[in-house]
Order: sequence, then C-alpha cells, then structure tokens
Amino acid sequence: MIRKIISVIGSGTMGNGIAHVFAMSSDVQQVFLVDINDEILESAQSIIRKNLDRQVKKDIISESDSNRFYNKIIFTTEIDKVSSSDLVVEAVKEDLNIKKSIFSKLDAITSDNTILATNTSSISITDIAMSTKKPDNVIGMHFMNPVPIMKLVEIIKGKNTDNSIVKRTLDYVSSIGKIAVECNDSPGFVSNRILMPMINEAAFTYMEGVAEADAIDQIMKLGMGHPMGPLKLADLIGIDVCVSIMNVLFEGFKDEKYRVCPLLETMIEDGKLGIKSKEGFYKY
Ligand code: NAI
Repeated sequence: MIRKIISVIGSGTMGNGIAHVFAMSSDVQQVFLVDINDEILESAQSIIRKNLDRQVKKDIISESDSNRFYNKIIFTTEIDKVSSSDLVVEAVKEDLNIKKSIFSKLDAITSDNTILATNTSSISITDIAMSTKKPDNVIGMHFMNPVPIMKLVEIIKGKNTDNSIVKRTLDYVSSIGKIAVECNDSPGFVSNRILMPMINEAAFTYMEGVAEADAIDQIMKLGMGHPMGPLKLADLIGIDVCVSIMNVLFEGFKDEKYRVCPLLETMIEDGKLGIKSKEGFYKY
C-alpha cells in the first residue's frame, strides 16, 4: 500500500492534535503542519512532544514509536509544501473569510484527488467549498478536543461533497482508530448546535449570580452525568471559539435564543480565553 501524505493547516489547540493522531497511523508516511510563524510552530512542537511523552508514560506507545511518530511531522510556514497531500485538514481560526482564503490557495496548489477537509466547528461546508473550483472535494472533518483522546469525528457533507470523498474520509477516520458519524451541513452541525447553547446558558447562569462557576459545573457533572462541567469545557474549547460558534448559530438561524452571553464577550476583551490564556472561568 502506498503510504499517505497528510497536511494540517493551523497548529493551535486542534491542529497539533490532528497532526499527532495522523503521525501515529501506519498508513501515513508524512505529516506537514503549517502555521504562520516559527514561534507558534515551536510551541506546537513542544505540545506534541509532551503529549507523545504522556502516551509513553501510560504505556500506550513505546519510546521508539514516539520518536518515529514525532519525526514524521514536518513543521513549516510554507503552505506550498502541502501540494502533494492526499488529505489536507484546515484548522485555523473560526472565521469564514480566513478559511475561504486558505481553501482558495489549497485549491490552486493541490491535485484533483486531494481531499480538502475543514475542522470548522460551525461554519457552512458548502460556503467554504464555494471558494474552490472543486467543491465536490470539500468536506467537514470535525475532530473533538483533546484530539488524541476523543473518539468521535463528526463528518459533514456539504451540498456538493462527492460520495467518493465521503467514503475516503471515513476510511481515514477508521485508519486512525476514531469513529466517524455523518451529518448534513447546517449551522453548528449536530455537536455544536446542541452543546454551545448549553455552554452559553451556563455563562448566563453564572453572570446572573445564580451560582459560582464550580457549583454550576458540579451540578451538571454529578446531576446530569456529564464528564466535565460546561464552564470548564468552555475554558478547554476557548471562550473566543465558543463566541464564534454562537455567532454562526445566531446568524444562521436568525433566532434570539442563540444570542451570545455578554459575559463571554467581556471575557474576550479582558483576554480571558480559557486554558490557552491561563484564565477563563477558572485560573490555570
Ligand atoms: P487556535 O486559535 O488554537 O489555532 C488556530 C491556529 O491557526 C493558530 O496557531 C494560528 O496561528 C493559525 N493560523 C491562522 N491563520 C493561519 C494561516 N493563514 N495559515 C496557517 N495557520 C494559520 O484555534 P483552534 O481552537 O485550534 O481552532 C481551530 C479550528 O478548529 C476552528 O475552526 C475551531 O472552530 C475548530 N475547533 C475547535 C475546537 C476547540 O475545542 N478549540 C474543537 C473542534 C473544532
């Protein structure tokens, strides 16, 4: 079997995890991880190294496998290097215009055979695909955070996504030991249409002084059987990412029930983005 070349655009919270899981696959020869500057890439390098070390400590992989996986990843600022990829997964900021400019570039440099996937949490796959000349190659491949741990990949079919692209994408998901579940293109898809209004409501509940952050999280954990409370989860996802998703739901459905909690907007202004900025609803 010819081993595959996979590329990931954006090396932040999600991108470094996606590169990590593909590097672990025996079907994959090389992974290109692209970002805008060396400082960000160096941070991604150290996070991937740390996460691989953790898997060694837990006896999930051996030390030599860990080095082999790490060495498969090429960290680069040059997007042109991804031209020979079989699959490209975009994982940059949740912003339609930024995603469109990346897809139009990917469209120009990759072959007709390359799957162009986006890890968007909420934005229309069909709209992103419009920025390319091959919208049938574009698909949503929505990984969950933290990528090395979470099993699900939500697969979103755009209006033009070809069935052969869906089939190949499902094969990639199973080759990395994850489980794909398919859905159609609609704001927030299934996962975030249901999850984000809950997180937003938890923020309103906290803002109105109904309970402390920890009490809200405990009630949802112990009472509803959630593995993590909604405010802690918001910190993990990133407050900025949560607000972007709520805005996509609000604009997409034109329904007041998706209005963003003002506290989340204030937190962004104050630089409290969650774990990545060391403070959100909690301090890290
Ligand atoms: P992030 O802010 O941690 O990382 C985004 C990265 O993209 C940054 O390193 C940034 O420098 C880079 N970037 C920006 N413009 C670029 C360009 N032109 N070329 C290359 N790199 C560029 O964001 P995060 O949280 O990783 O989110 C990425 C995507 O994944 C978003 O669409 C988000 O909605 C989605 N997502 C996020 C989840 C989460 O829990 N944070 C969960 C599932 C999906």
